[in-house]
Order: sequence, then structure tokens, then C-alpha cells
Amino acid sequence: MTVNPIPWDLLPDAAQMVDGRLQIGGCDVIEVAERFGTSVFIYDEVHLKNQCREAVEVFGDGVAYASKAFLCKAMAKVAYEAGMHIDVATGGEMHIALAAGVPGDKLVFHGNNKSSDELALAIDSRISRIVVDSFDEMDRIEALVGAGKSAPCVLLRINPGIDAHTHEYLQTGVPDSKFGFPLTDGIALEAIRRARESGAMEFRGLHAHIGSQVFDVENYGKAIEALAPFVNESGAEEFSIGGGLGVAYVEGEKADSITVWAETILTAAKTGGITATILAEPGRSIVARASVTAYTVGTIKDLPGVRTYVSVDGGISENPRPVLYGSGYEAFLPRAPQALRPMSARIVGKHCEAGDIIVREAHLPEDTVVGDILCTPVTGAYGHSMGSNYNKVVRPAVVFVASGEARLVVERETYDDMLVRDVG
Ligand code: LLP
Repeated sequence: MTVNPIPWDLLPDAAQMVDGRLQIGGCDVIEVAERFGTSVFIYDEVHLKNQCREAVEVFGDGVAYASKAFLCKAMAKVAYEAGMHIDVATGGEMHIALAAGVPGDKLVFHGNNKSSDELALAIDSRISRIVVDSFDEMDRIEALVGAGKSAPCVLLRINPGIDAHTHEYLQTGVPDSKFGFPLTDGIALEAIRRARESGAMEFRGLHAHIGSQVFDVENYGKAIEALAPFVNESGAEEFSIGGGLGVAYVEGEKADSITVWAETILTAAKTGGITATILAEPGRSIVARASVTAYTVGTIKDLPGVRTYVSVDGGISENPRPVLYGSGYEAFLPRAPQALRPMSARIVGKHCEAGDIIVREAHLPEDTVVGDILCTPVTGAYGHSMGSNYNKVVRPAVVFVASGEARLVVERETYDDMLVRDVG
């Protein structure tokens, strides 16, 4: 059992210890938590910008930020201003990116079941690329173009049939998947033929996303090696390898940088003789480590011979990942980020559900007390975006910190907000 302090490399770039307390972006984390209330997502804005810039430096301007990982107007602006496209997977994500001022020609539209309305919004917004996922979607695009809309540029999503060694729910490129055109039985070839011949779409190339939270970048090398002949024969001008680079969540995990990931991809593409421009769509690796979530400890229950439960003011509503995927997190106190953590505890939320676990086997300082601000790091990806208001727990606020300023970018939901759509 580890008693070590929180590993510093799990914290955002601009984390530092000042007078024994944690600051991020020059802001005292406890003061931010007190000012905006808990639970709250605190994002290091410089970290977000650094990750976006790194992606653009290594991949060029064809790289898109996968906004499903975390999206609000401020985030869309950060990615766009750093030179990234934005990958949107629904009309809702598209709407928010457009509302942030991202032009349509900087958006890439994904999804295995896009509606005609969503496709029409994409075409009307002069979307950069639609990543077509099915023959039914081609029917819908043809109908829209037949009704007078302009023909969009498309990539075709292929299913490479590759096992990326990640959680079952995060694998998308295995043979049994709802995504893309399988390479088997000539289905992907047929999709390419149809897209090329259709006057309703301009075929630009192919897309393959093998999964998410993929730790071993060699999986990308292997996928590209396997796909290279097909990509070359298809005459694709562009080939997107999707996203999926894994990040470290807990002590002992090591993940590669975006640069190493890109180098592996670009080297494999070169080796495979791929002449198409390589595109990518990182999500998690851009935002995960940029944020810590701050909670207030509300109760500490010591069950002798069983365990200690530390309850905080959030739970599966702002981080469903532990219960969905069994994901691990760390916890620490920002009033003493370098303190040893000898106390074993299970950190749980406030929902009426025994599975409402934030950190299954947490380590905390021995003097943790009710009222302490407690943080979980690496919560920037797929926390806020997958949040709910189960039990009518209000969704947390999101604050960006930089240069000593804390800026509210998403307000905490109010009880009345929950009644806005409840029309009785
Ligand atoms: N491109 C496509 C087509 C995708 O489906 C995804 C993620 C990405 C890019 C971005 O992948 P990333 O770089 O973020 O791994 N909710 C899960 C993750 C689901 C990912 C779905 N697709 C989680 O919390 O781990």
C-alpha cells in the first residue's frame, strides 16, 4: 500500500506548492473552491493551450480536438485559437462549437447515427468534413443534396477489426462494433465506390479510430501497418487515425506524450508508403490532466474492521467513470499536497446508490477531517462531459485558472435550472 504524496506529474502543468498549499495557474485551489463552491472542475488554461499547441506542432493543422472529452464554449475557443479543428459527434456538440465562434469549416462531424437534421445543420454550416459511418447516412446525404444542399466533403469511417487492448466499452475497432464500414466482405470497398460515384459527396479519404485510453502506442503502428495497403489502394487524400492516446490516472502509470504518439503514427504511415495526409483527433490527452475536481468532505464514517468511507459533495453525477469502467483515481488535500497519505479510505459521493464510488481504494493524509477540500486529479476528460444530474444533484461549475485569475466558464446548475424544461 502506498503512502506517498500525490505524484506531482498527475497534476496540471501550472501546479505549484506555495506556502505548503496547492496553487494552479497562480490561484490557490482552496480559495477557488471556496469562491465558486464545490464540487468544481478547476482547469489550468495554460495546460490546455500547451496540449493543443503540441498537437498542432506535430500533426499540422489537420488535427481536431475530440470535443466529447470536454466541451464548453471556452474550451472550443482554446482549441480553435490554438489552430485545431473540432471533432463534434452530435448536433449538440456542433451547436456549442458554433456558438463559441468556431467556423463550420473547422468542424469535423462524427457519429454512427446522424439524423437528417444534424446532417443539414452540418452542410449549412459548411462543415469541413463529415465522417460517414453507414450506407443509410449516404442515403440521407444524397436526399439532402437532392433537395438543394451543397455536396459535403466526406471521409469514410472504416472498421479495421483491430483489438486495441483497452476496456471493452472503449474499443471501437474490433470486428463486433457499431462503428464504421468493416473491411471484411468488401463492405468498405463498396462504400468507397459509392462515395466516389455519388454526386452528393466529395470523397476525401478514410478514418479509423481503434479505441480510447490506449496505452501502448505501438497499437497505432500495427493498425497503420495493417491498413496501409487498403488506404493506398483507395486513393484517399486524407487518412485520419482518430484519437485514443491513453493518459496516466494513478501512481505508477506512464503514458506517452502527444509527440511520441504522433511520431509513431507518422513513422508507421511513412513505412507503409501512405501518401495521404495524416489526420488525428485527440480528446483525452488534450484535457485530462488539465483539471482537478475539488470537493468538500462532508462525512467520515469509520466502520471498524471493514473500511473508512469519506463522503464528498459529488459522485457519479460528475464522474461516472469509476462505476462505468472501473477507472482508478487518486485523491489528495490541496492544503497539504505533499503530505504522506497513510489513511486508507473509500471516497464516495452523495448519491443514493452503493456504487457511487469516486475512488475505490484511496490514500489520504491521516488528519483528513470533515470540511476539508479534497481533490481528485486527472478529471478533465469525460467527467464534466458525461455528467448527469442524477438524484437532482446540480452539475458542478467549471473554472479556468491562469496568471493568478480564476474565471468562471460554466456556472453551477441551480435547482431552478432543473425546472426550466419541466413544464408540468
Ligand atoms: N475520435 C473518435 C471517432 C472517437 O470516437 C473518440 C472517442 C475520439 C476521437 C477521442 O478519443 P480520446 O483521444 O479522447 O481517447 N467515455 C470514455 C471514452 C469514450 C471515447 C469515445 N470516443 C471514457 O471516459 O474513458
